[in-house]
Amino acid sequence: MAVYDLSITDALLSTTRAVRKRLDFERPVSNAIIRECLQLAVQAPTGANRQGWRWIVVTDRDKRNAMGEIYRSGAGTYLEDGQRNADAAGATQDSRVFSSARYLAANIQKAPVHVIPCIAIDQLSVDPPRHVWAGLMGSILPAVWSFQLALRARGLGSTFTTLHLRRGDEAAELLGIPANIMQVGLVPVAFTIGTDFKPAQRPPLEDITHWEQW
Ligand SMILES: Cc1cc2nc3c(=O)[nH]c(=O)nc-3n(C[C@H](O)[C@H](O)[C@H](O)COP(=O)(O)O)c2cc1C
Repeated sequence: MAVYDLSITDALLSTTRAVRKRLDFERPVSNAIIRECLQLAVQAPTGANRQGWRWIVVTDRDKRNAMGEIYRSGAGTYLEDGQRNADAAGATQDSRVFSSARYLAANIQKAPVHVIPCIAIDQLSVDPPRHVWAGLMGSILPAVWSFQLALRARGLGSTFTTLHLRRGDEAAELLGIPANIMQVGLVPVAFTIGTDFKPAQRPPLEDITHWEQW
């Protein structure tokens, strides 16, 4: 027997998309709603229960403009190149993603809230082995996804992005982020234009799932 209403739970899990072109840049977002969603996000698991999540919430227009510049500088020609390649290959879904990502890159500063999820890296060695990265990312990205789900449930949309990280030092300087705090992304947040989103096309589970052994 289901513990929660599956029609609601499954709809939330299957329709929380990367929202870019349908972000409502005009509608203000209160700090209270961001706090509410972050409060839910930190219920997510962390390795060794270390709870190293840190969040920088940016609403200041000048800082968002500066983050927009950093984001575009980090992106370089990646999105244009990706779009060209996807178009040439006739990869429709990829073409749509790149078109949408280019729109976001041009307009990210207009999103009323930028959230920069970070993780404390006090105990990180210089060249950490793979399992350390898994532990580190695994201790922040589940919380980020919970944050995005909580937003979606409240009529807001977001996209997890990483392109600004190529210029992460500039963002760290702009926002005064200390050296032991690692940024993992930039999540623009806004109310969505309309609330109907669909499940995305994904490969058949049989192609990506191995039972008992590879
Ligand atoms: C690790 C990671 C990095 C991403 N970086 C970016 C990014 O820099 N810019 C962007 O517009 N979208 C970014 N995305 C969003 C993906 O493009 C998006 O999740 C994917 O196309 C699937 O779309 P959907 O989330 O709507 O199903 C990123 C997603 C992940 C998981």
